[in-house]
Amino acid sequence: MKSIWVINGPNLNLLGFREPGIYGSLSLQAIEDRLRKQAEVTGIAITFYQSNHEGAIIDRIHEAIGQADGILLNPGALTHYSYALRDAISSARIPTVEVHLSNIHAREAFRHTSVIAPVAVGQIAGFGAASYTLGLSALLHALENQEV
Ligand code: DQA
Repeated sequence: MKSIWVINGPNLNLLGFREPGIYGSLSLQAIEDRLRKQAEVTGIAITFYQSNHEGAIIDRIHEAIGQADGILLNPGALTHYSYALRDAISSARIPTVEVHLSNIHAREAFRHTSVIAPVAVGQIAGFGAASYTLGLSALLHALENQEV
């Protein structure tokens, strides 16, 4: 059974409360429940982690080595500047799909750059909570088709 680790970065614990006009009204828990159901139907194992701390997220990615077949990652604002997180992903060599609720390319200029995208399998942004379920489908598709 494939194992997928879902990792969320800073401020995503506040989903539902935080700027709902941009990020929607679903809590992170509700999004994780949807992913859990999708995982059940698809027959994969899934685990969830969220931290507001860059180093803790990097530690979690290191832990995933040898355990996770793929990572679904919303790095939050770390997307735009964390070379350390980027290096963790390229070092771990675990296929990673980057997801964002909002379309980062249609927002402030500083959000247009993702330092994570070059080391990710791909990026899904702008579909609200559905970015996660679409991201999981995309990750499984890539794993099944040995594209990664
Ligand atoms: C986000 C987009 C980032 O720019 C922002 O800092 C976030 C959330 C998203 O899911 O749309 O925290 O990753």
